[in-house]
Amino acid sequence: MARIAITDGLSKSAVELLIDAGHEVDLEPEKLDGFDAVVIRSATKLTKDVIESAPSLRLIGRAGVGVDNIDISAATTAGILVCNTPSASTQSVVELTIGHLLASIRYIPTADRDLRNGEWTKKKLRGSELFGKRIGFIGFGRIAQGVGRVAKIFGMELHAYDPYLPSEVALELNCTLHDDVNEIFKSCTHVAVHCNLTKETHHLVNSHTLSLMPGIGADGIKCGNHLVSCARGGIVNEDDALLALEDGTLSSCALDVFENEPQTQHPILNHPNFHGTPHIGAATHEAQHRIGVEMAHLLITYFDGNTPKSVVNRDVLG
Ligand code: MLT
Repeated sequence: MARIAITDGLSKSAVELLIDAGHEVDLEPEKLDGFDAVVIRSATKLTKDVIESAPSLRLIGRAGVGVDNIDISAATTAGILVCNTPSASTQSVVELTIGHLLASIRYIPTADRDLRNGEWTKKKLRGSELFGKRIGFIGFGRIAQGVGRVAKIFGMELHAYDPYLPSEVALELNCTLHDDVNEIFKSCTHVAVHCNLTKETHHLVNSHTLSLMPGIGADGIKCGNHLVSCARGGIVNEDDALLALEDGTLSSCALDVFENEPQTQHPILNHPNFHGTPHIGAATHEAQHRIGVEMAHLLITYFDGNTPKSVVNRDVLG
């Protein structure tokens, strides 16, 4: 039997699976010392200090994709296995990204705000179609590929920058792979961010890269430039994105993720051509159910003495 701390909630069915397997679950732990495992989402930050303060820990479960809130090297040094659920939320994030993209090009949030303010802005809200435009992906993993499949149905041409992607994957989707990220901005009127937050990708979307965007679609239509990110805060420089909205470089910007979260104060939130959501990419019934059940099985597998799938720091396995 293992003692498992769950700090940011987990689906009821997952908690039941763990209890049925004989484990003890604490949904409101005060500190992590004394627990064999901790399951977190994005709110809990497992820094070196926090990890070192819990020498009993053997496993960190990240119920979700991003592990940037865990000091992986401190966990590895302490011999703690880190596991995540990388594909459980893919479909939900794909659908949210498409939702943001469609809302952006037809200015749906702006239109809704205008209506609520008693304004009938039919003449002001001239949008554009996705059909015939190029979409550029920064990172072309599972989520970007899912968005790409839908974008293709809309008649978009796919471009991607992903230094880690085997070229066959891009080829399969008829997606042009670029070696230089600037080529994405130069070629595409629509840019979707889908990479991890690393030193290399921090503020990769900035005044310079945005200034390269063409504003005119591959079909010759002046559709403006559109940016969407449901990946990780900190990849888009929000101050620069606001400047780009103000000077017309960007016609729209949609973000689900922010450099500092929760974010309710940044001035970009008030720009009429911005719309945002509070990091809800994986916030669907389906994704949370899949994430919880997958995480419960990972924990059960590990405490049964087997190697779970989705290990982030394989070095610990020796
Ligand atoms: C993830 O990394 O799984 C998503 O961003 C969802 C989250 O952390 O809440």
